[in-house]
Amino acid sequence: MTLAFLPADTPAIPLIAVAPDALDATLATLPQAQAAWARAAGFRGKGGEVLALPGADGGIAVALVGTGSDGERARGRFLVAQAAGRLPAGDYRLQGLEGAALEEAALGWLLASYRFDRYRKADPAPARLVAPAGIDAARIARIANAEALTRDLINTSPADMGPAELAAAAQALAAQHGARITVTEGAALARGFPLIHAVGRAAIPARAPRLIDMTWGDSGPLLTLVGKGVCFDTGGLDIKPASSMGLMKKDMGGAATVLGLAAMIMGEGLSLRLRVLIPAVENAVGSDSFRPQDVLTSRKGLTVEVNNTDAEGRLVLADALALAGEGEAGLTLSMATLTGAARVAVGPDLAPFYASDDADAAALAQAAAQVRDPVWRMPFHDPYEEMIEPGIADLDNAPSGGMAGSITAALFLRRFAPPRYVHFDIYGWQPKPAPARPKGGTGQGARAVFAALPALLGL
Ligand code: BES
Ligand code: MN
Ligand code: ZN
Repeated sequence: MTLAFLPADTPAIPLIAVAPDALDATLATLPQAQAAWARAAGFRGKGGEVLALPGADGGIAVALVGTGSDGERARGRFLVAQAAGRLPAGDYRLQGLEGAALEEAALGWLLASYRFDRYRKADPAPARLVAPAGIDAARIARIANAEALTRDLINTSPADMGPAELAAAAQALAAQHGARITVTEGAALARGFPLIHAVGRAAIPARAPRLIDMTWGDSGPLLTLVGKGVCFDTGGLDIKPASSMGLMKKDMGGAATVLGLAAMIMGEGLSLRLRVLIPAVENAVGSDSFRPQDVLTSRKGLTVEVNNTDAEGRLVLADALALAGEGEAGLTLSMATLTGAARVAVGPDLAPFYASDDADAAALAQAAAQVRDPVWRMPFHDPYEEMIEPGIADLDNAPSGGMAGSITAALFLRRFAPPRYVHFDIYGWQPKPAPARPKGGTGQGARAVFAALPALLGL
């Protein structure tokens, strides 16, 4: 589905955003009967509270939506956008907001209108929004559709989203934006990307492992995005219990998120050189599965002892990161649903990230707050390096004890990555509905990175 605003000249019902402390002043601008009705109905301007007000003909003359107090807005984002699902069906023109608050409301409105309808018809959001004036509505719509791409890819049944289908999705995106793309599989993958091959080789031939390599743009700074594309994670021979495997279609959430981010970058026509690397595999159980205690030699030459086949994400990412570091390096940024430990640490709403450079971390944190895509910096804590050094190989993919699980995974990746490196350990899933975020696949961190690019790359 395409998320879109109504054209700016569409006749529409005024929708006035009202802050609780501006309620009296706003009502004073309305005809007396409407103001009296709003008071009688108990409208207070709570975040996302809506009220439609009748005109003399009995139709809706104007509607109100609450912005919420500062405290409410600290506790939740996209509050105004809840109006998309709460107002009576109709076309609305938002008034009373500007700048970042207007952008948040407009983006949220489109994101609240997202439906995943591949397998079942879904009713559209009843209330539609006219493209707001004073902001770049076309840009907001591009960002919303990029996020919708991420959600669609994650939500798709794993039966319909194997490595081949993930590659096809990347190819479709590349074709849309004139990007170049190559996909390495078979003998060339086994030779050049031994860890990707080892993790993915137990899948049936139609779901064979592959490395997707997309490039776009021919001048400007180099940005390489690397996304974990584990299309289903059974855990491998160290098989997950049913309770942990249930959500593992989302283990390609990193890939889905970097593709969404790439869509934002290419759609905006930023002057940079973009590369997107996605190791796409299924971590399957079979007679050809890689085993606990296998020692594998990575593309970079570092040997890895497999101490848990369920720590497969860092293996496939390692070979992709090594490739990223082979030419000119630039800024490399990976996104991966890498560890359960990250979720224990920060929960589903925050995207934890690691950054080699303090300035990059600061730029990300600042942009994240501005676009309401919350992130939290975690440390590449050098003293824990010893935890990923087992003894008979250079590296251990799953240190015993499980302490600092997200940090040790990040340190593992850093061994393979170019020097200037940012890594997001995302969840990629909204566990229960929230404003503008229905239950299901969700992008995390992509909008923050997109907003930070001018600072990160000097654009
Ligand atoms: N895909 C999982 C991580 C995951 C689990 C992300 C649940 C989000 C929700 C990953 O491949 C994995 O299984 N990691 C293991 C690593 C461990 C074996 C060292 C984990 O986190 O338990
Ligand atoms: Mn796993
Ligand atoms: Zn995984």
